Amino acid sequence: MVIDEAFREVLSRIIGDHRIQFFFESGTFNGLGSTTLISETIQNAGIDKPVFYTLERDPYFYRQACENLKRFPFVKVFNGLSVDEKEAVKFLENDDYLTNHQQYPDIYIDNLENPRQFYLNEISGNLSRKNNSGKSGGFLASVMSLFGGKKTEPERQNLIATLLADMRNKKPLILLDSAGGIGYLEFSKVREVMGDNPYFIILDDTHHIKHWRSRRDVLVDKRFTVIHDDTTHGRTIAAWLI
Ligand SMILES: C[S@@+](CC[C@H](N)C(=O)[O-])C[C@H]1O[C@@H](n2cnc3c(N)ncnc32)[C@H](O)[C@@H]1O
Repeated sequence: MVIDEAFREVLSRIIGDHRIQFFFESGTFNGLGSTTLISETIQNAGIDKPVFYTLERDPYFYRQACENLKRFPFVKVFNGLSVDEKEAVKFLENDDYLTNHQQYPDIYIDNLENPRQFYLNEISGNLSRKNNSGKSGGFLASVMSLFGGKKTEPERQNLIATLLADMRNKKPLILLDSAGGIGYLEFSKVREVMGDNPYFIILDDTHHIKHWRSRRDVLVDKRFTVIHDDTTHGRTIAAWLI
């Protein structure tokens, strides 16, 4: 994600003022972006016994992230899928914003020719290895690529439901920045798991199909307090019931 001074400042204020101890992120990549920024902010704020879970689907990036984040003992990187694999495929299959993307010209998507295939490939966990042009193979090939010949082990999927539940009563800071195609599914999962428990949420790529709808929902629901809404970089930070 794009990290600028305004983001550093607001992050540091939220973590420092609310003494946040629990952190959850979907989309680590190599760990050197948002994960490192949040970890450094936690250290600078002198937070006592912090816990930071971060999820990365791609095994290659996962290994890089583990190496790059070694200096933060409170960070635990998980290699797996944030949501249920079948549910993710179903969500992509049925998403009207992909089927009729021409009707939503203001929402950025990565591939105009076959966005559904592009996003199926994206959640396959092979982003570091595969040609992600979305042009070859067809829909079935994409689904097979998603399963990689065998299904993802159950313990390596649905990680928002299983891991975020551990900290649902601890007023966590949650950052969603993973796959473009299923951002809204992740947001819905977070809302389901968190229920009426307070939390802070950071949405990245709010001009994009990833979190355009998540931001829209945040803006209309008065139970969310919008703390930061940067439409230039596509980033929104809000507090739920705080
Ligand atoms: C935009 S990058 C994350 C960038 C990172 N937050 C940063 O600031 O550098 C998205 C990452 O999410 C991973 N990813 C995609 N879908 C995922 C999913 N469903 N669960 C976990 N990780 C996922 C991708 O492999 C990719 O490395």
